Amino acid sequence: MGKNKLYKFAKLETYRHVFQASFDEPNREDFHMKGKWKQAFFGNDHPLVLELGCGKGEYTVGLGELYPEKNFIGMDIKGARIYTGATQALQKEMNNVAFIRAKIELITSFFAEGEVDEIWITFPDPQMKKTRKRLTSTRFLNLYREILKPNGTLHLKTDSNFLYTYTNAVVTENDLPAQINTADLYHSDVVDKVLSIKTYYESQFYEQGIPIKYIKFSIPQKMKLVEPEIDIEFDEYRSYNRGAKMPEETKVQKK
Ligand SMILES: C[S@@+](CC[C@H](N)C(=O)[O-])C[C@H]1O[C@@H](n2cnc3c(N)ncnc32)[C@H](O)[C@@H]1O
Repeated sequence: MGKNKLYKFAKLETYRHVFQASFDEPNREDFHMKGKWKQAFFGNDHPLVLELGCGKGEYTVGLGELYPEKNFIGMDIKGARIYTGATQALQKEMNNVAFIRAKIELITSFFAEGEVDEIWITFPDPQMKKTRKRLTSTRFLNLYREILKPNGTLHLKTDSNFLYTYTNAVVTENDLPAQINTADLYHSDVVDKVLSIKTYYESQFYEQGIPIKYIKFSIPQKMKLVEPEIDIEFDEYRSYNRGAKMPEETKVQKK
């Protein structure tokens, strides 16, 4: 492991607003902050908003600045990425931002029923080959539903036509109420200061002229969620095998 990563990991250990899970099995043990984030960590009763697969945490920090009266937690498995947002939050002396380094699959070990008001999913890997790994699959929606307030909101921002088409199919198949849905955010009339926050991945796709898609929907509590049966064309510019890594050919050319 590189020295830079080791340095970041060591720094993360000293950040009181970064929580790193030491366990790996879903629901083996609940995290000590579960059900207590607002009172025990943030010291208030403000709404709690999550960013899943937050990477460097652009939405966690950006929303935290825009909405001091809300609490924000970014969650990602990669500590070196979280380090960027966590360090920014520290430098900006933000007391409404935290990060969790853990697998999203463990989310119900971290949050209690109804503890979360909103979830943002920003530029997740489309997982074109594995439905159950998609962060908008019914498997994950069922987990989110356990921790969201009744009819809590979910936001998906993506470059991927594959994931956008798939998520729309999930929404349609299950009759989920969608409040906003656009296949080209920056050429739509819904774009505002919140939706204009650009993540690290988003900036690269945006600069290549790939339309950014956005869908905001909620998940009613009492209904069985059904996976749609649908064939979707793979995104050609995305690597099929390398998961989170950006294919070299999609990287922005340095002038
Ligand atoms: C394509 S990156 C996007 C990062 C950031 N949201 C952005 O837009 O720049 C996907 C992120 O999701 C994280 N991730 C993927 N699957 C995950 C999982 N199951 N649990 C936690 N993090 C995950 C990866 O570590 C990675 O940082």
